[in-house]
Amino acid sequence: MKTYLTIILMCLSTSVMADTALNEKLLTQGWRFHRGEAVGAESVTFNDADWQQVRVPHDWAIGEEFNRENDIQCVMIKENGEEKPTWHTGRSGGLPWAGVGWYRTTFDTKPGTGATLLFDGAMSEALVYVNGKKAIFWPCGYNSFFVDVTALLNKDGKANVLAVRLNNREQSSRWYPGAGIYRNVHLIEWESDVRIPVWGMHVTTPHIKKDYATVTNDISIEGADEQELTVSMTLSYKGKVVASTTKKQVIHEGIPLRLNTTVEHPHLWSPESPELYLLDVKVEKDSKLLDSKQQRVGIRSIEYIAEKGFFLNGEKRQFRGVCNHHDLGPLGAAVNESALRHQLQLLKDMGCDAIRTSHNMPAPDLVELCDEMGFMMMVEPFDEWDVAKCDSGYHRFFNEWAERDMENMVRHYRNNPSVVMWSIGNEVPSQVQKGGTKVAAMLRDICHKLDPTRPVTAGMDRAHATIWNGFGALLDIPGFNYRTELIPDGHKRLPQGFILGSETASTVSSRGIYKFPVELKKSQQYDDHQSSGYDTEACFWSNIPDVDFALADDNEWYMGQFVWTGFDYLGEPTPYDTNGWPNHSSLFGIIDLASLPKDRYYLYQSVWNHTHKMLHVLPHWTWPGRIGEITPVMAYSNYPECELLVNGESMGRLHKLTKEECLSREKAGDKLAMLRRYRFIWDNVKYEPGEITVKAYDETGKLADTKTIRTAGKPHHLRLTTDRESLKANGLDIAYITVEVVDKDGNVCPHASDLVSFKVEGEGHFRAAANGDPTCLDRFQLPRHHVMAGKLSCLIESNESAGAVTLKASAGKLKGQITIPVKK
Ligand code: GAL
Repeated sequence: MKTYLTIILMCLSTSVMADTALNEKLLTQGWRFHRGEAVGAESVTFNDADWQQVRVPHDWAIGEEFNRENDIQCVMIKENGEEKPTWHTGRSGGLPWAGVGWYRTTFDTKPGTGATLLFDGAMSEALVYVNGKKAIFWPCGYNSFFVDVTALLNKDGKANVLAVRLNNREQSSRWYPGAGIYRNVHLIEWESDVRIPVWGMHVTTPHIKKDYATVTNDISIEGADEQELTVSMTLSYKGKVVASTTKKQVIHEGIPLRLNTTVEHPHLWSPESPELYLLDVKVEKDSKLLDSKQQRVGIRSIEYIAEKGFFLNGEKRQFRGVCNHHDLGPLGAAVNESALRHQLQLLKDMGCDAIRTSHNMPAPDLVELCDEMGFMMMVEPFDEWDVAKCDSGYHRFFNEWAERDMENMVRHYRNNPSVVMWSIGNEVPSQVQKGGTKVAAMLRDICHKLDPTRPVTAGMDRAHATIWNGFGALLDIPGFNYRTELIPDGHKRLPQGFILGSETASTVSSRGIYKFPVELKKSQQYDDHQSSGYDTEACFWSNIPDVDFALADDNEWYMGQFVWTGFDYLGEPTPYDTNGWPNHSSLFGIIDLASLPKDRYYLYQSVWNHTHKMLHVLPHWTWPGRIGEITPVMAYSNYPECELLVNGESMGRLHKLTKEECLSREKAGDKLAMLRRYRFIWDNVKYEPGEITVKAYDETGKLADTKTIRTAGKPHHLRLTTDRESLKANGLDIAYITVEVVDKDGNVCPHASDLVSFKVEGEGHFRAAANGDPTCLDRFQLPRHHVMAGKLSCLIESNESAGAVTLKASAGKLKGQITIPVKK
């Protein structure tokens, strides 16, 4: 029992805590990896001595070289309006993720114990072997799955051999899927046959009042048929027990045991105040502890009301959400808690309160962090049902596996307070095909059966058809992707009385790169393969952020939105996806692939964040070739008035326009009129070197903030800044260090594209670098990288010993360094 207690304490000490079993550990070290087929590699005697030593989570492709041949394909992307097959490059990131890969490791179990292996996700078509025998096959690369391997374990105490074969087929994904065992693997051991299985608890909070809340837990217990057990549950808040209950009862196999308890004066969970309780369940017989499980619980209510929209804890709110793919830029798909935390913190500071896990099951680490940091989640399983989008996509498995995949997803995350709705799919072609509504109803019903507390939505892109064909009507929440002009009609005709912007915007822009003249454009391409940082460009099916802001402000029934996307991701390099190599990553992100905010970040911040005042000015002011040319200046701010000064001379004081003012300017021929509701725009500024200053005034007309941007001189040194004051000495903690080329006065040189080399000394090591340039082919995991528009991110990972880590950066004569403490 002693060792088990140690494991509980270890679990408690980590900040992320899922449904944790009594004796559970992660299999992270000691893995060997082989790229390609390896006949017989499942066998115990197979010699893997020359395989690469890796740590899991591991993404085998992310550190490799980009090459257009890695994912070139001649396909017709119907969703993008294509009518014949064309050549596409970089569609899934241009990295070598396709093919077979093998992993092997060993694990010990005590003689006589049973064991379950739980995979948080393995990409893909995982075949798992224990001691040479097949344990399980799981095709979906995103879902968590588990298998009881007791019968395959060595009984004599010898280490068990675990081998995993993965197979990623070409043309199986519309984006970079990652490759390998890219999420955690858990080993759960038990001594008693009586146990709570994986995801065996179902916690709900059916009554929430100001004075009290009830917490109900339906607990499945295996191996205890007709035995009398004592099952207890305590609920604690910040370490103090606030409620408890115990039941002694005969267990009948297959029938969960219900425990209820009441919490007085509950602290409710919300994005602004993500209050969590810790639930501790113990299963005992004759005073002997047989199993125990812990689970974090949040108490919160959700309602969806016709004509009013979405309510959390009785308060109406509109989702200020983003869609994200699962890759972590230069870290690839390999999950890392500190990288996820870094991303979520950026989103939080922007005012974002919700995440859609497009278009697949998330890493559990992300869901736990959303519970803890306060984000509402739409959890989504599929981009394809039984009808193909990609030749080798999930449709090949759908009929046989969809139900199991749905069940794993819902059971896994139905206890997480952050999850406020399920999606059953994204833009599935079945929306408009015969039989599509039947499949939709089947998936919806699985959600309702396993979790009656949350509504079901889907991302629909065929608005016209789904309004009329019954598809939109059968969802609890109709989710529209884009097509904002059809949303009011959807609201009028569909029965629910509200619409969600399940996917919005798809604005394209590059960080720090601006195009002239400043005009609204669709699917615009440029010679440098970038898009404008003025945030005025989108695809033919999509729009700029201002349109979605207006929809939310003008319609009470609109539930808010999930922007495509929070972060740039690998793959889908629209509008350069049709033979546009070297583009291999998206331009859709509010934040770039290096986790550096684009200007658009501040536009969302000015509308979404309700907690602090802000002011942001664009573009940069170093345009040697534009002297005397019109160079518009914009300010994103939540102050009501702003004034621009160019070299001290006022260009006028502006206020944000009302909807009516925008409309009348639009009528008068002002093409940017609708932007003036959310942005301050000085259209006719002529560039001259020097400085631009924007002064922001508050509601009383008082000067409240000032921002100045100066013309940069020659590059002088590298400035290094970090997001972290210290790192944990756990071998996994990552600091994002921003490296900027600056002049002698500290102004960023916005045209710099220097190649920077890195050296790391002390208790840490170089992990990756990225600059957010979708055309840059520098390898992410080599310690040298070009800056884009004067900036890049370098990711440093801690070692396991305490001390300090120093990053030294150099680009010819330009130098810079930074030191961060590494603490136990
Ligand atoms: C949507 C789709 C997303 C992404 C996006 C790009 O239609 O759901 O996965 O492809 O378009 O604009």
